Amino acid sequence: MEALEADNFLPKVLSIVISLLTTSCVIVVASIVFPARRSNPEAHAPLRASDDVMGILRRACFDCHSNETRWPWYSALAPVSWLVAHDVATGRRELNFSEWYSYLPEVRRRKLLWIGRAVGDGTMPPRLYQLVHRGSRLTKAQRSLILRWLKDELNKLDCRSERLDSASRSLVARLDLHPEVGR
Ligand code: HEC
Repeated sequence: MEALEADNFLPKVLSIVISLLTTSCVIVVASIVFPARRSNPEAHAPLRASDDVMGILRRACFDCHSNETRWPWYSALAPVSWLVAHDVATGRRELNFSEWYSYLPEVRRRKLLWIGRAVGDGTMPPRLYQLVHRGSRLTKAQRSLILRWLKDELNKLDCRSERLDSASRSLVARLDLHPEVGR
């Protein structure tokens, strides 16, 4: 019985080693043959805000919503590289803080309201990102700081309620943003 176990041991270890090597080879070859685009283009019109607000956005949002992405080492390895690159590309397309002032005021206002919804509901940063990046989850204090900043920004943009569509109006009410309407 003991002899049999000893006989089994070596082939088992060998097969584990072989499958690990094969997996690594597949990862390396896939990463080389299908590399993900990991670029940080120049920031043309970056957002300016207080250090507090910038600090929060930088830590929790900038990896996917700016041209200042911190690309971790594993983002060079397939298939993680494809996932990360896809998130960054879609994230930047939806909202790019490095292009903030190149958005028309109308667009900025809409994006501000979306940010309010994402932060208010806690849907951003995405769950998986929060798991990997401990400390990216916004605390209550950080959330209210962001909401206060949003409110100020909405006030700077002309935010008379008759100019908001009904979805935006209900969002303003739900998030308790209440910009000083029309003043
Ligand atoms: C891991 C990447 C990642 C991080 C970090 C991240 N986002 Fe996103 N975000 C995305 C992606 C991808 C989309 C587009 C697809 C979607 O809506 O889920 C998106 C969409 C959005 C949208 C527009 C669509 C919507 O749902 O309203 C807003 C606003 C937004 N994110 C805000 C934020 C804010 C604010 C933070 C930081 C607190 C943040 N995101 C952090 C990846 C990210």
